[in-house]
Amino acid sequence: MIAEAHLPLPDTVNRRVRFATADTARLTHQSILRCATVTLPQPLRRAIPARQLEFRVGRLCAQKVIHSLTGENLCPGRGAHGEPLWPSGVVGSISHSGSRVLVAAARESDVPALGLDIEALFDAPELADHILTPQERVRFHHRIDSQLLTTVFSAKESLYKALFPLTSTAFYFHDAEVIDCTDNGRIRLRLLTSLSEHWPAGALVQARWCRLENYIVTAALP
Ligand SMILES: CC(C)(COP(=O)(O)OP(=O)(O)OC[C@H]1O[C@@H](n2cnc3c(N)ncnc32)[C@H](O)[C@@H]1OP(=O)(O)O)[C@@H](O)C(=O)NCCC(=O)NCCS
Repeated sequence: MIAEAHLPLPDTVNRRVRFATADTARLTHQSILRCATVTLPQPLRRAIPARQLEFRVGRLCAQKVIHSLTGENLCPGRGAHGEPLWPSGVVGSISHSGSRVLVAAARESDVPALGLDIEALFDAPELADHILTPQERVRFHHRIDSQLLTTVFSAKESLYKALFPLTSTAFYFHDAEVIDCTDNGRIRLRLLTSLSEHWPAGALVQARWCRLENYIVTAALP
């Protein structure tokens, strides 16, 4: 079933941002039929069926949040770099992990940009150097565990999804750092690389995180 979701994120995020979620392993017959109405973009026509399904379910979740914001039945297109193209006046983001699909969208007048990521908690200390900058390793040395690594990884993916549509510039894990990550779901990130005139090195971005079953969810709100 494709349903609106209320996430345990702090502050007013749930008042400004609408979420929808689905589990591709537990779709209703009606949802499966509706998936067929989503046209696949050219690059996905040769993708494996599971990827085609997650793309289509993401689009149906996006239609649901767009409808709840605007009353219109619109589906985001897909840009040349894979980014979803939201209707005018709407910002949003799509994420998948395993069979879970999560989508967020908001009115641009409430939230200028939005990046969302859902990540199954992973236990991979060997990835720490890839995900964390040397400065982050020092900053978080007393708490580098599965939850912290997954959260920092996810927060940087959310940051990427929020800023790429604004800057058209790709960046990687060592191009941004997490300055704070509090137990009550607040994150602050800092860019370490200039992405554009408006997004120079040093720019700060707020994000939020929460635990949802065995997943970490992050939302970047530049
Ligand atoms: C775009 C990217 C961040 C997606 O993350 P992911 O964990 O692989 O996958 P997710 O399921 O969470 O997200 C996929 C969705 O991201 C969205 N997306 C893809 N490219 C995007 C972009 N350039 N900008 C914004 N959103 C994008 C799409 O909606 C996609 O789903 P869809 O194809 O079904 O519509 C990742 O694939 C990528 O390109 N990374 C390269 C850069 C990077 O990793 N930087 C590290 C952060 S600093």
